[in-house]
Amino acid sequence: MAEEIGRGAEAVITRDGDRVTKWRRPKGYRLKPLDDRIRRERTVMESRLISEARRCGVPTPIIFDVDNFSLTMEHIDGIKLKDVIDPALSEKAGELAGRLHACGIVHGDLTTSNMILKDGKIYFIDFGLAFHDHSLEAQGVDVHVFFQTVRSSHDSSEELVDAFLRGYARTYSRAGDVLKRVREIEGRGRYL
Ligand SMILES: Nc1ncnc2c1ncn2[C@@H]1O[C@H](COP(=O)(O)OP(=O)(O)O)[C@@H](O)[C@H]1O
Ligand SMILES: [Mg+2]
Repeated sequence: MAEEIGRGAEAVITRDGDRVTKWRRPKGYRLKPLDDRIRRERTVMESRLISEARRCGVPTPIIFDVDNFSLTMEHIDGIKLKDVIDPALSEKAGELAGRLHACGIVHGDLTTSNMILKDGKIYFIDFGLAFHDHSLEAQGVDVHVFFQTVRSSHDSSEELVDAFLRGYARTYSRAGDVLKRVREIEGRGRYL
């Protein structure tokens, strides 16, 4: 029997044994033909980016099936990074983010809730807002979002931030430029 394990603005997530299904629900305010197209495209895009990320060396759930508005994938039976993060894990997350960016993929919601630790390995999930982009700006926003979540929800967050950057610089040659951009992004936020 499938049980609901998550419900966000866009999708309902259910689990049935070792499988998870993410179903994008209809948005009543959109005309049906357009709504169908958007949900179908986002589902296909998410499944592609999840598989592509894995080929770039970032662990992600294996995709079993894509059907119209739903995506069925491997259930990662682990614990959210949010609940266990330490500097060593943050460094590992940084390495993976670096690989993702080097590969031209921006995650779009790079938080510690979208990372699962299983058997010592970190998996990235939730590519619902991911896209192809090589720009420093898009990559900078990804890193900024990670820093923001870490700063708002963990103690000794600067240690976690430094560790993340160590890992990120190890796998991504443009890490220095991205960090500069992150500082700019942080500066912009301060005047709002
Ligand atoms: N493959 C998976 N393995 C384990 N848990 C998952 C998986 N996919 C989603 N989940 C769980 O469901 C939650 C919501 O899924 P997610 O893809 O992040 O959707 P949303 O876009 O609504 O945030 C996740 O935070 C996680 O707890
Ligand atoms: Mg999520």
